[in-house]
Amino acid sequence: MPDVWTPRSWRDKPIKQVPTYPDPDRMEEVEQRLRHYPPLVFAGEARRLKAALAQVAEGQAFMLQGGDCAESFAEFHPDNIRDTFRVLLQMAVVLTFGAALPVVKLGRLAGQFAKPRSADDETVGEVTLPSYRGDMINGMDFTPEARVPDPERIVQGYNQSAATLNLLRAFAQGGYADLQKVHQWTLGFVADSPQGERYRDLANRLDETLAFMAACGLTSETTPQIREVDFFTSHEALLLNYEQAMTRIDSTTGDWYDTSAHLLWIGDRTRQLDGAHVEFLRGVENPVAVKVGPTIEPDELIRLIDTLNPWNEPGRLTLIARMGTDKVGQLLPPLIRAVQREGRAVVWACDPMHANMVKSANGYKTRHFDRILGEVRAFFDVHRAEGTHAGGVHFEMTGQDVTECVGGAQAITEANLSDRYHTHCDPRLNAKQALELAFLVAEVLKENRAPREDRAAAQS
Ligand code: PEP
Ligand code: CO
Repeated sequence: MPDVWTPRSWRDKPIKQVPTYPDPDRMEEVEQRLRHYPPLVFAGEARRLKAALAQVAEGQAFMLQGGDCAESFAEFHPDNIRDTFRVLLQMAVVLTFGAALPVVKLGRLAGQFAKPRSADDETVGEVTLPSYRGDMINGMDFTPEARVPDPERIVQGYNQSAATLNLLRAFAQGGYADLQKVHQWTLGFVADSPQGERYRDLANRLDETLAFMAACGLTSETTPQIREVDFFTSHEALLLNYEQAMTRIDSTTGDWYDTSAHLLWIGDRTRQLDGAHVEFLRGVENPVAVKVGPTIEPDELIRLIDTLNPWNEPGRLTLIARMGTDKVGQLLPPLIRAVQREGRAVVWACDPMHANMVKSANGYKTRHFDRILGEVRAFFDVHRAEGTHAGGVHFEMTGQDVTECVGGAQAITEANLSDRYHTHCDPRLNAKQALELAFLVAEVLKENRAPREDRAAAQS
């Protein structure tokens, strides 16, 4: 690893999951153009997220990260953005009650357009074409033309991210996220479901609390914490040409920030210690995350932490474990112990989606609600046994009424999958399933509160 990092030093490293662009000059021209485009986020906001995640690392907060597996150009619509945002808000309210802790809200939104794939090619019948790699790279249609990587798509991805972020900022700060509107966040198709009813009960309790607070003089007019929400964006930093073009020096600190999102993560397929993706993210000052799958060894994890967070700064690094329901109990403890032994400050989060994918009998990629919940429960059990903080959850989900994951109270079956299977990549929880999961996770958080409160009492 060279000591000198520059925004382009990743180019001298081995790289995985990289598309082959037919015309490198056009790519270069697009990168040049993007370098002059405005930043999407500000360094100060990324620092605020880092401070919030430092609270999570210290066991004083919980993190909720969620959104599409892959955003798409075709599904770009204000209603889709609003619906995902409001389910996240509802989930955050539910989790805040359960954990009795602040919940850091992070969307897989406004930039989640590039996908790692397990195979470079896809074969249908007699025809083999390059795999679809996300709308920022190529098209999903199974035609030779669509599958050619096109640099102009990066510009379209940037523009869509800018518009998405603009709307999210308006929702977060313009009154929509005011806690006094907690009832109005319920989506029509969720309202008359058991989850909708349960949410209504909780919202009623919140109303009572807010009425009490108003009587004490704390209202949305006097208290920004009631009126506004801090909502942050994140995506996988996979297409490094784009990430480099969005990387700028922050004028107040002189540090480099990747201004494409507040938090960037490295996927499980691109986390090689000597690889391009680790090289790139080690040099930006944003909070960063790494997906940690079943093949990682404790020593390797410590070296990765050394590289990405050499100053052991709390909030800088989040480890998103995605082990699979059956493996997490066995694979996670040695990793947590290594991190504890070395005294490293990290946020531990659980992605119960990516190691629990199955193919249905009728050919759909799907995930079972119970297996998803099972991995979250096992993740919490491990942390409880190790005396460490289960810091957050990471879901692929949407506000839409899709049928992509099976199970849940709605009891989606394999036969239902074809009804509304719209994802551009992996199967997502729909709004009802996501809210149901939030209630179940909140119960686990509540059970875990007793030991936490005991620990705090013992320390005081
Ligand atoms: C993802 O988050 O969409 C993803 C591909 O995850 P992982 O790197 O954990 O497989
Ligand atoms: Co995915």
